[in-house]
Amino acid sequence: MAVKKMWGGRFTAVSPEFAQEFGASIDFDQAMAAEDIEGSIAHVTMLGSTGILPAADVAQIKAGLVEIQHELDAGTLPEFTIANEDIHMNIEAILTAKIGPVAGKLHTARSRNDQVATDFHLWVTHRLPEVITAIDKLQGVLLKLADANVETILPGVTHLQHAQPISLGHYFMAYFSMLQRDKERFQFNLKHASISPLGAAALAGTTFPIDRQQTADLLGFDDVYTNSLDAVSDRDFAIEYLSNSSMLMMHLSRLCEELIIMASYEYQYIELDDSYSTGSSIMPQKKNADYAELIRGKVGRVYGDLTSLLTVMKGLPLAYNKDMQEDKEGVFDATTTIMGSLHVMTGMMSTVHIKAANMEAAVQNDFSNATELADYLATKGMPFRQAHAVVGKLVLTGIQTHTPLQKMSLQQLQAASDLIEDDVYHDLNPRVAVERRTSFGGTSFSSVKAQIEHGRTLLAEESHEKD
Ligand code: ARG
Repeated sequence: MAVKKMWGGRFTAVSPEFAQEFGASIDFDQAMAAEDIEGSIAHVTMLGSTGILPAADVAQIKAGLVEIQHELDAGTLPEFTIANEDIHMNIEAILTAKIGPVAGKLHTARSRNDQVATDFHLWVTHRLPEVITAIDKLQGVLLKLADANVETILPGVTHLQHAQPISLGHYFMAYFSMLQRDKERFQFNLKHASISPLGAAALAGTTFPIDRQQTADLLGFDDVYTNSLDAVSDRDFAIEYLSNSSMLMMHLSRLCEELIIMASYEYQYIELDDSYSTGSSIMPQKKNADYAELIRGKVGRVYGDLTSLLTVMKGLPLAYNKDMQEDKEGVFDATTTIMGSLHVMTGMMSTVHIKAANMEAAVQNDFSNATELADYLATKGMPFRQAHAVVGKLVLTGIQTHTPLQKMSLQQLQAASDLIEDDVYHDLNPRVAVERRTSFGGTSFSSVKAQIEHGRTLLAEESHEKD
């Protein structure tokens, strides 16, 4: 007796229920229901226009699919079942219940292998503009912060040790640039996601006179896979998406780490708004940077999603293997994670309070202008290596006597080198130190303003492209 599965003709037994449950993907791939219906409508339209199916059948199938689409939107679709395994067979089963055996003609010249690849490509292609817009919004907030803080100065650090004074605007524009690269990577991702595998069928193409360009056009794909084996085997676009997501999360996490440090009692460079902080259940005084910590923590799952898919794919022979069913959950999870992280980060940054006076005080009482003094001596002819040593000694004295370089007397400074004159105090002013770093891409106020201007054009160009 034939088993009642769509593919059950040659079977005499079905798997036990627990194994069917294990093998089914409907619990998660129902996220691609809209894409699956869209793909089927395009496919059957093409089957009609090429004469592969009679117009009457096409009309019936299409009408059924459109009805299913409406029911999906309205939330009135019949329940999906494990017995029907995945979204593809569930939709087909619903269609069959609606229009009868003619529904069976939909799968002409198609396999679930090109069907699932098509759905997945569509799903990622649909998400990419949303991700790009969310990055754009965060960049807009960073640009505003930079603009408002061109002349706010703070100690720039390396090894987390005070290094040289910088503009806070410069700091924000660094993250703007990182996000710009993230955005460009996602934009490039579209090139590989927006390729249609539909019509590759199981692996070898089909004997039916299909029109792959037509279905690609109907679905809004930019291109068509040129090799049917590659079309059903390729998940590079998803790996790229996860890799881009990982890099984005890494960037957000670095920013979070810094926000957490800057909001700490020891620093007090910023205060996160109450609306983006949480309290403690026991310690009444606490105000924690929970959201920043959570974004930092969520990086782990996105890296995990990437590692997982790379590992799933690494040993797979061409073409489709069931292992590939494991490709989707990580992509869905990464999407929820990056979108949530971007939204929260945007809200957190647009409400952050900058404590400019504390940043300025930190830079007035440290030795982050030591390079200025070394440069000063070098300009007056002292070899830089010697100048470095002279200033090093002065710094040591300064540390021992709690006196920053600009607060030392001229006599004291001249004892270290007679090249030093009264004009040294001008150079030692941290604000001047920032202002004078006019080299391209440096932290001078004028350079930061130029970066902001450039950033503004980038954002405007992109919003223009979207129109
Ligand atoms: N649920 C399957 C997946 O997600 C659909 C493709 C199944 N194809 C097959 N030949 N078993 O990968």
